[in-house]
Amino acid sequence: MADRYVGFAATGPGRFLTRRLGLPQPVALRRWSAEQPSLDGELLHLTAGKSALEGPGGLAEVLGGAGLTVGVDSERPVAVVLDATGVTGVDTLAEVHAALHPVVRSVADSGRVIVLGAPLDPADHHQAAAQQALEGFTRSLGKEIGRGRTVTLLRLADAGAAESTLRFLLSPKSAYVSGQVIEIGGGAEVTAPADWALPLAGRTALVTGAARGIGEAVAATLARDGARVLCLDVPGAAAELDAVAGRLGGTALALDITSPDAGARILEALPSDGLDILVHNAGITRDRRLANMAAQRWSSVLDVNLASVLRTTDALLAAGGLRTGGRIVATASIAGIAGNAGQTNYAASKAGVAGLVRALAPRAASGHGVTVNAVAPGFIETKMTAAVPLFIREAGRRMNSLGQGGLPADVAETTAWLAHPASGAVNGQVVRVCGQSLLGA
Ligand code: NAI
Repeated sequence: MADRYVGFAATGPGRFLTRRLGLPQPVALRRWSAEQPSLDGELLHLTAGKSALEGPGGLAEVLGGAGLTVGVDSERPVAVVLDATGVTGVDTLAEVHAALHPVVRSVADSGRVIVLGAPLDPADHHQAAAQQALEGFTRSLGKEIGRGRTVTLLRLADAGAAESTLRFLLSPKSAYVSGQVIEIGGGAEVTAPADWALPLAGRTALVTGAARGIGEAVAATLARDGARVLCLDVPGAAAELDAVAGRLGGTALALDITSPDAGARILEALPSDGLDILVHNAGITRDRRLANMAAQRWSSVLDVNLASVLRTTDALLAAGGLRTGGRIVATASIAGIAGNAGQTNYAASKAGVAGLVRALAPRAASGHGVTVNAVAPGFIETKMTAAVPLFIREAGRRMNSLGQGGLPADVAETTAWLAHPASGAVNGQVVRVCGQSLLGA
């Protein structure tokens, strides 16, 4: 069922009623479309402390490429970037307040506040305290800013390595990503694409669970960005899968990802030059409280959501199926972070995905030149969540800073950013696409 509340809250009576009753006041988010690919407007570039990102190829240059007009005195900015890499103690932290306090109210609806922090210095507890303080600051601002505006903290030491990330965050593609702390650095090689509008040209992507829902949107978004897509789903979904692959000019692979020979079958289906992007999206739920959960419910969820992800990843890496510069994007969930009644099996599998990502990422980067990250969706409007009972569904939709559910496209855009050739320095991250859900915050 579509979310009619967002439309109602935007009407005159809707605004009046929601304000009077203290109800959430979501605004329709600005999302990417071919007609309106950027956030159109001014970007306000502010600094607290002495920036560590100046100089040639530095922050100013990278922001200049993001498609917005950069200024220092915009009255109605669509984005504010606060460079707080020079915050080294509690005194300079006051400059964060001084910079944002006067402008925060003026940020346009569906606008962005991006705080840039430095990596925490374990040898300097004053710097670490001040830099860690930025996390509490951004997460709180995300919860109070409202009007579809998002707040993100990016930790980085080099602006060039963060170009694809800044472009993503400063675009409508990141509409449902808020309250996140993303770390950039290390990882694999960063390669600027020949054409930023078609960053995945010449690359091959495999998306599991691509017949519908989030997986279908991921395949479509990667294809939009130029990738050849291999769409995988269970044989029972072959008709939908063929339709998706056909529409995207891709190839369908009807295969149960839990079958023992899945790795070998995927390797057979790959083009001779191998795979660039592997998206582990297939997933199932079999909810019951633990006391009522038969072993089969436990094992099927663990097998699809976690064991098969481990098996296919291992098989492809061992056989050299993923080319240098490759990307693995797995699918976690906020349930794996916060836990959920009735989902011990599902939350275990999704927390396991986060563990896999963090442990494998450094080794995959040094050994294979491949990055490993995860998206952790919150409440996304799909067939899976449409089946949730009304009141639980409403709670899931509203209990986040944006007061609404996300769309499959939001997860897909985040996946495309992680799959980007210039995102080589984004590694081992679990990025929530949850509108800053109050669950597992
Ligand atoms: P969905 O149920 O609409 O689609 C999942 C797809 O995976 C289906 O096409 C299904 O046939 C396929 N699949 C299931 N088992 C498979 C297997 N053994 N082999 C191959 N394909 C298989 O689900 P949705 O909502 O699109 O979710 C996609 C991913 O996102 C899942 O991993 C899910 O756990 C995760 N997620 C979804 C959230 C949501 O709110 N919809 C929230 C958090 C995570």
